[in-house]
Amino acid sequence: MIHKIALAGCGNVGTALLEILHEKKEELAAKYNFNYKVTFVTDLMKGTVVDPEGIDLGKLLENIRADRSFARFPQSEGTFHNLLEKSKATMLAEATPTNLKTGEPGLTHIRAALSRGISATTTNKGPVAIAYDELQKLAKDCGAKFRYEGVVMSGTPLLQMLENGLAGANVIKIEGILNGTTNFILTKMDEGMTYAAALEEATNLGYAEADPSGDVEGWDAAVKVSILAKILFGKEVPVSDIHRIGITDITPDKIAEAKEAGYRVKLIAGIKTTNNNLECYVMPKEIPLDAPLASIGGATNAVTVTTDNLGDVTLIGPGAGRKETGQALLTDLVAMA
Ligand code: HSE
Repeated sequence: MIHKIALAGCGNVGTALLEILHEKKEELAAKYNFNYKVTFVTDLMKGTVVDPEGIDLGKLLENIRADRSFARFPQSEGTFHNLLEKSKATMLAEATPTNLKTGEPGLTHIRAALSRGISATTTNKGPVAIAYDELQKLAKDCGAKFRYEGVVMSGTPLLQMLENGLAGANVIKIEGILNGTTNFILTKMDEGMTYAAALEEATNLGYAEADPSGDVEGWDAAVKVSILAKILFGKEVPVSDIHRIGITDITPDKIAEAKEAGYRVKLIAGIKTTNNNLECYVMPKEIPLDAPLASIGGATNAVTVTTDNLGDVTLIGPGAGRKETGQALLTDLVAMA
């Protein structure tokens, strides 16, 4: 079977997915029997290309590199629903920017796919945070799959581990570094860079959200906590109920003082279970220099999951980045196939 892939959102992450799909076509066919064509790519800035016979990915990637657009291809117009129909897509990869208030445009894209029985994967936190139950039900009712590995820890397989790898074990607590941008900024400030320069570098590297206040004020980590509360405990914890402090008040002096005293400042996110209640938080904490979390630098994330049967399980890996998040979409596409 040849899967036909639609991609909504072709910024850093979407382009990285196309690069991987282009480079690893033969390897993915040989290893996973995953055969595919990309038949629909749409991006607010770059344009919309539909070809049910398969878009020439080499040519498309060259066009993106040269012009940051799809201008060398005939442009398609119409609603997302109609274009999806026209493309004959059998899977959707959704990588539009996160909007936590409306979930759009990702929510519309995912609903359009699932309601047609087209499986969807997303790296967009908005739809998962806002409409998790609705989308899971829609997928089930329509015989499709809905996956979202990239919404927490990019391509590091935290969600697969939590959903499949800990069956029978109860999670008591989960705590760690869940935002790559702020960890990158704190690491660079620790090395002497200014806050503004570090934020600019994090943005250029594709770590930060379209609006980086989402990162530095702790919203992004709080959304991830809210998503984990849903996936792990089946509980709705609105972001507004999460005790949230960002890193905007952390100065180089505070970092230096903490270091002098034997600590490193980290933005820590977590969920603790107490008497059937969840305590959810995001806040800067001073971590002793010899503790494992103190050594997690750059955009790397790390999470320790405390369970009844296994004790502590710690997962460390990339938490943001173009290729790293493209990998999250890929792993979901392979799983859906
Ligand atoms: N802005 C997010 C971060 C991207 O820095 O972690 C990955 O969710």
